[in-house]
Amino acid sequence: MEPGDAVSGAKLFKTRCAQCHTTEAGGANKVGPNLHGLIGRKSGQATGFSYTDANKNKGVIWSDQTLFDYLENPKKYIPGTKMAFNGFKKPKERNDVIAYLKEAC
Ligand code: HEC
Repeated sequence: MEPGDAVSGAKLFKTRCAQCHTTEAGGANKVGPNLHGLIGRKSGQATGFSYTDANKNKGVIWSDQTLFDYLENPKKYIPGTKMAFNGFKKPKERNDVIAYLKEAC
């Protein structure tokens, strides 16, 4: 994995993720869960969000590597997820958004 560019990642997050996710501490759950504290946490743990069993029971720890694999094709990585996002096919987009998540979450 290449180290990502958090500035570019912030733009990607704003256009591709922010309609469904907040990142700040205590941020609202929208269509998707608040992502604060995501890195290092097990899948499906955001307080007060109603996950699918598929996401809740995936049992991975979110890290650079698991996010990199997930964000390529969320529906393949977590069959049955209700996250409606097709994925970033370009590794650079994934690395950039992950760099942003590490700063913002
Ligand atoms: C259309 C709404 C939508 C978009 C766009 C979206 N998500 Fe999601 N996301 C969700 C939903 C809903 C879930 C919960 C899925 C479930 O419970 O099956 C989720 C789950 C997640 C999770 C797992 C959280 C956990 O606690 O296990 C991560 C990480 C995530 N999204 C990151 C992103 C990123 C990064 C983007 C942008 C590239 C993005 N999402 C785009 C709706 C969305």
